[in-house]
Amino acid sequence: MKAIVQDVYGSADTLHVRDVVRPSPAEGEVLVRVHAAGVGPDVWHVMTGLPLMVRPVFGLRGPRNPVRGWDGAGRVEAVGAKVTDFEPGDAVYGRLDGSFAEYALAKTERIAPTPQNVTFRQAAAVPVSAVTALQALHTKARLRAGQKVLVIGASGGVGSFAVQLAVAHGAEVAGVCGGRAAKFVRSLGATTVLDHTRQEITDGSRRYDVVLDAAGNRPLPLLRRALTPRGTLVHIGGEGGSRWFGDTGTQLRMALMTRFTRHDLLGLFAVVGRADLLTLTALIESGDITPAVDSTYPLTEARDAIRHLKRGHPRGKVVLVVVPEA
Ligand SMILES: NC(=O)c1ccc[n+]([C@@H]2O[C@H](COP(=O)([O-])OP(=O)(O)OC[C@H]3O[C@@H](n4cnc5c(N)ncnc54)[C@H](OP(=O)(O)O)[C@@H]3O)[C@@H](O)[C@H]2O)c1
Repeated sequence: MKAIVQDVYGSADTLHVRDVVRPSPAEGEVLVRVHAAGVGPDVWHVMTGLPLMVRPVFGLRGPRNPVRGWDGAGRVEAVGAKVTDFEPGDAVYGRLDGSFAEYALAKTERIAPTPQNVTFRQAAAVPVSAVTALQALHTKARLRAGQKVLVIGASGGVGSFAVQLAVAHGAEVAGVCGGRAAKFVRSLGATTVLDHTRQEITDGSRRYDVVLDAAGNRPLPLLRRALTPRGTLVHIGGEGGSRWFGDTGTQLRMALMTRFTRHDLLGLFAVVGRADLLTLTALIESGDITPAVDSTYPLTEARDAIRHLKRGHPRGKVVLVVVPEA
């Protein structure tokens, strides 16, 4: 099968299209014929091995799994001996190990049936980004209807879902993005849009019950100034932190400070699982949220897809199309 593989950490130039052996599912796994795969900053981090602290997990000299990608959608091709809840032909989406390939393995607890009303390319945009947004708003911030929410990074993969999920939950949403994405963020349901190239997230007069930070390099005091006295800040991520530790410094400061303030200052490490995917399937099928696909690239142009993502300004999610009609 064709796959996008890399032998050493580095830029998008380290990615190659190669023929590799098609994997076989273990007892609790399914083999998925990948139709489309999501491209996000997480893929860039594994590709580059940055921040360096991720290397003990992903492989010291190069990525342990040479095939990139872990978001995807497609059809079950084969099932492991103990799999009873999926069968060949089922349309599924979720966490696929090595999704930049014609076939990828998935653990059954990490996938769910795709929503009936979207294409595979839309479904592939969902898993990591939407589950992250869902866990940030529901599990961490325990969002309630009527609350005011600020989403920083509102036009990106995570942010575009966060805005829609918060609106669907009855919140009043403000989004922070670059000026060119303002119309897009309004179309997702944000009533206020702040252009980060022209103004800061708050001048102290605007305060929010929940702040989701998905572009997280602002100083903690500034982020806290945007919170109501008992508000919740969820730090999702941000690029450009230290080469060794990324943005873990921010997370540590938040963990220390949250003990001494009435604010809830929370980090998040999202894990894609079946229950959240089923929640998202229901929200997509009811029309409450719609995956936003910024652009698509054929599998063989994975390098360009990642370069496009890193140049910035995607509106929603970048997707690799593996089966042309996906
Ligand atoms: N904690 C977790 O489990 C988890 C899970 C998934 C992702 N993440 C992390 O979360 C972050 C966001 O992921 P993503 O997939 O949404 O990335 P993305 O698609 O690249 O989106 C990033 C967004 O940030 C905006 N942005 C850039 N600079 C900004 C600034 N100074 N102020 C406000 N907004 C700014 C961009 O808007 P413009 O282009 O319009 O400027 C864009 O909308 C990444 O760091 C990723 O690694 C964490």
